Amino acid sequence: MKTKQTTLDGRFAVILGSEYEKLLRAMPHYPQLQDAIARHAVEALPSPVGTGKLRMILDLGCGTGLTTLALAAHANYGVIIGVDKEMTMLKQYMNNVIEGRKSALENGVAIKAYQSDILAFLKRWKNHSFDAVVSGFVLHNLPKVMRAEILKEVGRVLTPKGVFVNGDKIAPDEINLHNKYMMQQLTKFTQTYTAPEDAAYCIGWIEHYAVDNQPELRYTEAEVHSSLKAAGFRNVKIVERHCMDAVVVATKK
Ligand SMILES: C[S@@+](CC[C@H](N)C(=O)[O-])C[C@H]1O[C@@H](n2cnc3c(N)ncnc32)[C@H](O)[C@@H]1O
Repeated sequence: MKTKQTTLDGRFAVILGSEYEKLLRAMPHYPQLQDAIARHAVEALPSPVGTGKLRMILDLGCGTGLTTLALAAHANYGVIIGVDKEMTMLKQYMNNVIEGRKSALENGVAIKAYQSDILAFLKRWKNHSFDAVVSGFVLHNLPKVMRAEILKEVGRVLTPKGVFVNGDKIAPDEINLHNKYMMQQLTKFTQTYTAPEDAAYCIGWIEHYAVDNQPELRYTEAEVHSSLKAAGFRNVKIVERHCMDAVVVATKK
């Protein structure tokens, strides 16, 4: 039986979004992945010395701000722009980055956020607007066609040699390994959210993972490589993996 994909829209508008950071209890590796996304993006930025040009970083699907805050902890002299379509998430982003914004400013980093669909937002920017584009756990939520369109736009808005870093739920191509990781994560959900008041949250994540696991939606290593190459990237590398989650780095040709 085919599960409908209608749940893809508004997945973070209600409980999984309003209590998003409770997810970290069942994914203790999440901060480490955020740090890896930020580190790889910032390491690839051009030197701020002598260019007179601000270093521009775009955080696609910025959510509650975890990726932005990791970027702010690593970056200096630049602008971080976050974009997300979900107000439930952006309200938390605004609260969470307030302190981070103050300390980031001391390092010469300004942070701004916009409410928009990612693809529509990317289309508003000129070619070569960003030195780095990052994305944390966003693309796997979208249909494959939209993922490919977004990557094409990311390639267009990046400067030559600009970097795209994506931390995401990325299935290993070896299906038995993927199934093993999937069962580990589902078990972790049931072991973590044991209080009766967490039942809806636990079921919400399990349903979310089941929908993402449909073959027509599952984001695989093979798709990561082929779609990034098709969008004009080279040196596509998975640099870190924890269970179902991985960080991929790609450089624009
Ligand atoms: C799993 S959360 C990740 C948030 C954050 N990047 C992190 O790593 O913690 C995915 C985010 O992507 C956003 N999102 C999904 N599809 C989007 C789209 N088409 N346009 C804008 N935001 C989108 C959701 O609203 C949600 O905040």
